[in-house]
Amino acid sequence: MASSTMSTAGLAGSETVQSIFITGVKNAHALEKQALQLMQRQVERLENYPEVRQMLERHIAETQQQEERIDQILHELGEDRSLLKDWATQLMGNVAAIQHAMMADEILKNTFANQAFENFEIASYRSLIVMAEAAGHSQFVPSLRKSLEEEERMAQWVASNVEKITRMYLEHEARGEQANR
Ligand SMILES: [Fe+2]
Repeated sequence: MASSTMSTAGLAGSETVQSIFITGVKNAHALEKQALQLMQRQVERLENYPEVRQMLERHIAETQQQEERIDQILHELGEDRSLLKDWATQLMGNVAAIQHAMMADEILKNTFANQAFENFEIASYRSLIVMAEAAGHSQFVPSLRKSLEEEERMAQWVASNVEKITRMYLEHEARGEQANR
């Protein structure tokens, strides 16, 4: 948006702003790694919710693209992505999915986590776009915006399917089927 560009005019020469942007890109990289693990753990276990599985598979493919877009930005910024220390945050996504695996309502907990996660990513990309513009790197904005749109689509899908997934879960359970995933 034009307003964000205007309000950050004059910051492009600041080394602090450059460094905040680079840290933001690295954080986005860690976040995508975490998103991948969270979704992959779910897909491995999903049995009774084919639509959820399909959407997760699609978003896993999108997330791999998002990670590549971030890699490309890091490369153009001259940052070595092999030095990224995102193992710590990666674990968190995995731990969340593992914890939910022990719950009787695993499908619901994962759905809530997915909605939270996608919204976290949306905020993160919106913030990163402002940083890119402020740091004078508006050439990266189209690719960041593409990732943002994918997150918004996924968040929208999850948000509009919470009720449906819950009803399916209740129907399975009422029929005595074990359908927690
Ligand atoms: Fe996402």
